[in-house]
Amino acid sequence: MSNRKMITAALPYANGPVHIGHLAGVYIPADVYARFQRRLGKDVAFICGSDEHGIPITIRAKKEGVTPQDIVDKYHEIIKKSFSDLGISFDEYSRTTSPKHYETSQDFFKVLYEKGKFTEEMSEQYFDKQAGEFLADRYIVGTCPNCGNENAYGDQCEKCGTTLSPSELINPKSMLSGNVPILKDTKNWYLPLNEYEDFLNEWIIEGHKDDWKPNVYGQVKSWLNDGLKPRAMTRDLNWGVPVPLPNAEGKVLYVWFDAPIGYISFTKEWAEKNGKNWKDYWQSEESDLIHFIGKDNIVFHCIIFPSMMKAHGDYIMPKNVPAFEFLNLENDKISTSRNWAVWAHEYVEDFPGQQDVLRYALLSSAPETKDNNFTWKDFQTKNNSELVGIFGNFINRVAV
Ligand code: MF3
Ligand code: ZN
Repeated sequence: MSNRKMITAALPYANGPVHIGHLAGVYIPADVYARFQRRLGKDVAFICGSDEHGIPITIRAKKEGVTPQDIVDKYHEIIKKSFSDLGISFDEYSRTTSPKHYETSQDFFKVLYEKGKFTEEMSEQYFDKQAGEFLADRYIVGTCPNCGNENAYGDQCEKCGTTLSPSELINPKSMLSGNVPILKDTKNWYLPLNEYEDFLNEWIIEGHKDDWKPNVYGQVKSWLNDGLKPRAMTRDLNWGVPVPLPNAEGKVLYVWFDAPIGYISFTKEWAEKNGKNWKDYWQSEESDLIHFIGKDNIVFHCIIFPSMMKAHGDYIMPKNVPAFEFLNLENDKISTSRNWAVWAHEYVEDFPGQQDVLRYALLSSAPETKDNNFTWKDFQTKNNSELVGIFGNFINRVAV
């Protein structure tokens, strides 16, 4: 056990506010852990920030008829304020559009490029001639080959849940112009994840069988059993960190390449303001790196980001990656698009001064080992009988 704790919480996408599912499944557990480590006298850096690139942002911008920058400016402020109102004690809460992050993620890419860690591959991608843009999978709609839903996306049919690739869609259409997209050749830089299988097997499958959560361990194991493939680390998009190479116009870093590097960029920002050395937290065996995430982030934090850090060569590996399951609301899946959620910023307005009640309720039913359910009835019981009745009575008797 080391004296230094480098604690990260998954960077929320700045395409909407945070809800109780995020709080229960990442931020409150991470905050409790960070506070506990500080109480033990550890040297803690608890780092987070907004994930401001990626398709969810551009889709939201398109829907609202504004720019991606408008979207991230708006939601970064809302999210940041909710966290602070709920007492999430980040040492730094920054954003992936910060200059320091551009510099850090581009430098990271260049190190890998110069070490020859990428392969260059040509592939055919859907292209919208009228819009003059390559189309992310989400930007292609068509008929689902599985259930016939006419509004399936190029990556998934939301009706039947099938994972798709754009070429499987019947009658694919571009969401930008409504036209039929064409296939066009493009070059991108790939990280050959298959070359990291031995390392990952030894480090996680042999090394963390007993101390990582079974859900995390199991998912990693099944990915490794299926075998890893090279994965593109750059994309043909106009929203993101530009690829720092000549002749790479119109290409940006893959959002899952840049976002986890955000943890490093933000640690640098914090360290500069506080007279610390960021390398003590990221490049020292004296440091324990811990990533708090939701279960949908396991592959990125246990396979892709570690492989990137391994390829770079200077970084420590995470000591643990506690991933949480999902929280449902009144027995129904929380959904931003269906507006089925309890939003953090609305809770703070509706229950002024009652942040700790929500923290207690969410923590005591945190989805640690299986999906869990939040109901207002439970919330009321936890408040009235556990906090006021039992805990309040205990404190009252002791004080009297
Ligand atoms: N924005 C992602 C999500 O909400 C999480 C990014 S975590 C990071 O699922 F490591 F990439 F930063
Ligand atoms: Zn379908």
